[in-house]
Order: sequence, then C-alpha cells, then structure tokens
Amino acid sequence: MIWLLQFLSLLSGLGPGNTVSQTQAPPLLVDGVLGESVTFPLKFSAKEEIQSITWLHNRTSIIFIPKDAAQSQVTDPKRKDRLKVIQSSSLQINNLTMADSGPYRAQISTATSVEMYDYNLSIFRRLRNLQVANHTQLFENGSCEIQLTCSVENPNDHASFRWQVAGNTILEEANLTIFWEPKDSSEETYTCIAKNPVSNLSFSFSVQSLCKGVFNEKSQLSVILCSILVPSLICIVVSLIVWKKKKVAAEAPRGPSGNEPARPENTVYAQVTHPNTGNCS
Ligand SMILES: *[C@@H]1O[C@H](CO)[C@@H](O)[C@H](O)[C@H]1NC(C)=O
Ligand SMILES: *[C@@H]1O[C@H](CO)[C@@H](O)[C@H](O)[C@H]1NC(C)=O
Ligand SMILES: *[C@@H]1O[C@H](CO)[C@@H](O)[C@H](O)[C@H]1NC(C)=O
Ligand SMILES: *[C@@H]1O[C@H](CO)[C@@H](O)[C@H](O)[C@H]1NC(C)=O
Ligand SMILES: *[C@@H]1O[C@H](CO)[C@@H](O)[C@H](O)[C@H]1NC(C)=O
Ligand SMILES: *[C@@H]1O[C@H](CO)[C@@H](O)[C@H](O)[C@H]1NC(C)=O
Ligand SMILES: *[C@@H]1O[C@H](CO)[C@@H](O)[C@H](O)[C@H]1NC(C)=O
Repeated sequence: MIWLLQFLSLLSGLGPGNTVSQTQAPPLLVDGVLGESVTFPLKFSAKEEIQSITWLHNRTSIIFIPKDAAQSQVTDPKRKDRLKVIQSSSLQINNLTMADSGPYRAQISTATSVEMYDYNLSIFRRLRNLQVANHTQLFENGSCEIQLTCSVENPNDHASFRWQVAGNTILEEANLTIFWEPKDSSEETYTCIAKNPVSNLSFSFSVQSLCKGVFNEKSQLSVILCSILVPSLICIVVSLIVWKKKKVAAEAPRGPSGNEPARPENTVYAQVTHPNTGNCS
C-alpha cells in the first residue's frame, strides 16, 4: 500500500521531501446511469497553490490536470473522448459503461503535500415499464379478493417494490393481496412504486374498479339473456302488431285496381334499439 502511494506521488511529480496526507473521509458514493454522464465534485481545502490534480480509477491514472486546466491530458486512451474537466478540477465522465464503475481518487498536489479524495462509482440502468397484473376473485358473500403483482421489465437492476394507499406504505414487496368489502369499503387508490438508486416508477389505480369488473363478469349471463331475449320479445310483439294490422287491412275494401300496394298507414316501422346492457342486470 505504502509503496503504491509513493509510486503515485512520484508519478505526479513530487519530490521526496513532500508529505503524503492520508485521505480523511470515507469514499463518496456516486450513482451513475448507464449511457449517461456523472460528475465527481471536487472541493479541496489545500492552503497552498495547487500544482496539479491527478484522477485515478482502479488505482490507474486516467487524467492529469496541470495548473492550467486547459492543458489537461487524458492518460487512459480508452476514455479519450469521454472525460471532461469541469471548473478546473471536477471530473465528468460521459456515456458511462459498466466498466466505469469502481473506486476513483482525486490526488491534489501542492508544493509540499498531497490531498486525496475518494469516490466509489456504481452504475445502474433506469427501471423500465412498470406493470401491475391483477387476479380478482368474488366470494358468495360479496367480498372480493384481489391479488396484485407489480413488475418492471428489468427487475435485476436493483429494483425494489412497495405499495402505498393514500401516501402510506403498506407493504414493501411486489405482491399484494387485498380483501375488498363492497359494503364497508370506500373508494381507495392503490399505488405500486418501483425504484432503484437512479429511477422510480409508479402506477395507481382504484381497487373498486377491479371488483366492479368481476361483478360485470358475474352478471354476464344475464347480459347475454338480456341481449337475446329482450330484442326477441320486442320482435314478437312488433310482428304481432304488424300481422294484426295487415289482417285488418286485408279485410278492408280494396281499391278500384284491386292490386294497389299497401297504404302507408298499414306499414309499421319498428326501430329496435339494442338495450343498454348496464340497465339490464
Ligand atoms: C455519447 O453518446 C451520444 C449519444 O448517445 C453520442 O452522440 C456520442 O457520440 C457518444 N460519445 C462518445 C464519445 O461515445
Ligand atoms: C474497475 O474495477 C471494477 C471493480 O471494482 C471493475 O468492475 C471494472 O471493470 C474496472 N474497470 C477498469 C477500467 O479497470
Ligand atoms: C464500492 O461500492 C460497491 C457497491 O456498493 C461495493 O461493493 C464496494 O466494496 C465499494 N468499494 C469501495 C472501495 O468502497
Ligand atoms: C386488471 O387485469 C386486466 C386483465 O386481466 C387488465 O385488463 C386490467 O387493465 C387490469 N387492471 C389494472 C388496474 O391493472
Ligand atoms: C367472505 O368470505 C371470505 C372467504 O370465505 C372471508 O374471508 C370473508 O371474511 C367473508 N366476508 C364477510 C363480510 O363475511
Ligand atoms: C408474486 O406473484 C407471482 C404471480 O402471482 C409469482 O410468480 C411470484 O413468485 C410471486 N412473488 C413472490 C415474492 O411471492
Ligand atoms: C422519485 O420520484 C420523485 C418524484 O418524481 C423524485 O422527487 C425523486 O427524486 C425520485 N427518486 C429517484 C431515486 O429517482
């Protein structure tokens, strides 16, 4: 360890008389998004004039920033176009890849000392496409059991799930089972939230609407009966009327030609509108 630090100080051009200060703070944890950018902020307390700053990744120098930051040199050829110096000392990495994760160190050299600042970069993908699957079951007594499963397209990207009702977390898992009593339950909005260190997604819905769906399924038989029986009945009634009127017309005296078409008042126009299934159960 010591030899490495000495080696690094030599690299940054320090003479043997310089002191190497220990890093004071534990590494600053930094989260980055795959394909996006991250900046390691650097605020230092060096009392003397800074001679240079060296940034290291996995203990290997990646960029050297001299007094004149415009003269910075990227020492890692693989990242030539992705490293950028911000405000003369902070380091920005663009188009992050998974290999960019791991420990980083800023090594600030003055004429007599070296200060070090450590970072630890973790890279994540944003969560995508939150979905809630539901399975609803209606009991004889009218209560309704709902099984809900919350999922994202990429759960392995450190996704965690939680369920909320009216802003209060009720469960910190993806699967939730609820009982809903139509009589004594008010309208409630449930929300599933999926999050990882770089993103969060949520989906809200009313539980009542799910149980309504079941009631409708249950009453589907009556809906079918409605939509077949009622029009048929109307048809029969209308036919009867038509038949009766025709019969009356046939018994009435005919016109001079004898084969004159039926007069308008003999025709019954019937319009059968499809009954609203909602009113039919
Ligand atoms: C970084 O990504 C952007 C957009 O995806 C692209 O236009 C640019 O060329 C990339 N830069 C490098 C250095 O790969
Ligand atoms: C740096 O180390 C991390 C683990 O700490 C590793 O995942 C990554 O591939 C390494 N990157 C380079 C460029 O060596
Ligand atoms: C950096 O963070 C990763 C993930 O949290 C952890 O496994 C690793 O030990 C940390 N490394 C250092 C040097 O703190
Ligand atoms: C419940 O599931 C059905 C399919 O089984 C779906 O059409 C509906 O959108 C779901 N409702 C909610 C609130 O997720
Ligand atoms: C209705 O039936 C279910 C299952 O049999 C039961 O768990 C629930 O407590 C019952 N609800 C009422 C209001 O009786
Ligand atoms: C959640 O429910 C789904 C389907 O209902 C099941 O495949 C999965 O194993 C359940 N997960 C947990 C943690 O119980
Ligand atoms: C989650 O979303 C909220 C509201 O949109 C936002 O304030 C918060 O920063 C987000 N958290 C993360 C980790 O993205």
